[in-house]
Amino acid sequence: MPEPDTSMMSRLTALCKRRGFVFQASEIYGGLNGFWDFGPLGTQLKNNLRDAWWRDMVECPPLGPDGKPLSIVGLDSSIIQHPKTWEASGHVAGFADLMVDCRETKQRYRADHIIVVKVLFKKKDNATTYTMQLSALDGDEASEVITRKAKKLIQKSGGGELLPINIGEGRPFTEIQDSETLALVIGPDAENPGTLTEPRAFNLMFPTYHGVFQNEESKVWLRPETAQGIFLDYKNVLDTSRVKPPFGVAQVGKSFRNEVTPRNFIFRTREFEQMEMEFFCAPEDGMMWYEFWVNERLRWWEAQGVKKENLYRHDIPDGERAFYSAATADIEYKYPFTAPNFGELEGVAYRTDYDLKQHQTHSKVNLEYIDQENGNRRYLPHVIEPASGLTRGLLVLLCEGYQYDESRASPEWLKIKPSLAPIKLGIFPLVNKDGMPEVAEKIYLDLRKHFTCQYDAKQSIGKRYARMDEAGTPFCATIDGESLKDNAVTVRDRDTAQQERVSIDRLREYVEKKLAG
Ligand code: GAP
Repeated sequence: MPEPDTSMMSRLTALCKRRGFVFQASEIYGGLNGFWDFGPLGTQLKNNLRDAWWRDMVECPPLGPDGKPLSIVGLDSSIIQHPKTWEASGHVAGFADLMVDCRETKQRYRADHIIVVKVLFKKKDNATTYTMQLSALDGDEASEVITRKAKKLIQKSGGGELLPINIGEGRPFTEIQDSETLALVIGPDAENPGTLTEPRAFNLMFPTYHGVFQNEESKVWLRPETAQGIFLDYKNVLDTSRVKPPFGVAQVGKSFRNEVTPRNFIFRTREFEQMEMEFFCAPEDGMMWYEFWVNERLRWWEAQGVKKENLYRHDIPDGERAFYSAATADIEYKYPFTAPNFGELEGVAYRTDYDLKQHQTHSKVNLEYIDQENGNRRYLPHVIEPASGLTRGLLVLLCEGYQYDESRASPEWLKIKPSLAPIKLGIFPLVNKDGMPEVAEKIYLDLRKHFTCQYDAKQSIGKRYARMDEAGTPFCATIDGESLKDNAVTVRDRDTAQQERVSIDRLREYVEKKLAG
């Protein structure tokens, strides 16, 4: 199996920091594990992805199988809801990961992320084969970590020969049931065996309190998903908007999960943003809409510039889905840290009427839809939910866009779909004199009303191109001496580095056409 391309991840992370896409949160205080800030370029790129989703979901949703536009409306519900919400949804009782503590290092891990590998070695001047049960976090560099640790421990015990390690024969920690083996396992960051606790359930919701007193009655939760706010407002939307099944309610917003092991940059974080849509339909149409949305969402990610071969539809088999789900497919992406495998980007779940039924029971409010066109038929709509991470989607755009090409002036550049790029047009006076800055400034003031522009007059043109390439800017316009005579500028294309002379009067139209294409 090829090694995961972690070097690309470290280069991308460094670029994100250097160019202001993503910063570690609270960096000046040493950072806070699982939390990230988005810098000027990252915020703009994230907003553009969010806006593209909103536009294609709410303002201009796809046509349904009958060729008619779907009806989807927007919502912005509270992050903190009545605590009964999370009892009804099952999050209080069931939203837990199995976690393991290490008594030696005080580290906490997700049990399903630890693999245990049996390592064999021979001591010096001794033919006997000894074993150690070493563990590491599954995935990137596990084999390297185990080898390094094994060598260190063998050295400590007086030296010896490490026999070949087969990481593929490692066992998930969760499979180790007997206390004898557990007592032998050396934790991922520990040096002594037997310091890992047995897995314990750990609720992922962040609790907080509302009001003056901090007690069980005032305890509330930060939402772990945006979806439940939609179910709570489903009836309000139905009663106040001119919608009837099939229809959708979409929401974008922050969610919080106290992940045991946040990792892989902004892939799994404790504070993140989701883009979720609940599509309410008649029970008998559920499977049809489910297939519709899985295909639609795959198509949408491709339309955002993600290559088809980097996307994968993973149908979750029976027995592995949430008990209420009649069908679920994950849309997965080939991240550098999962390659050649794929990791989740979005989940599309057929949730049946589970959520509405639960909220109806717990709130005692009738949530049935009365279909007046069909003899007042009453039913709880079934729900299809395409749920994706906005911040995870941003990571996909960054991974997909990241290019490394030694032959370019700046080897690192971001190939982002032009309409999503944080800056659409860089505007440069060739030199900062001879009337060029004045023309460039005028173009900047005019065009920034229509799309995001950046004026840059510092350093050589090559350096300015390089800066824009790293920011993923698709076009740069240079105003030179000729511009004052022919009223035209040189436009350089990020992807081909080709240059074209474009009249200043046509520059807006030129860029807008490319952005729409
Ligand atoms: N309402 C269903 C739901 O929340 P989920 O699969 O738990 O389903 C949906 O989350 C999406 O949210 C995921 O596919 C992922 O993109 C994103 N997501 C979930 N947990 C995340 C985390 N800790 N950090 C970043 N993104 C996360």
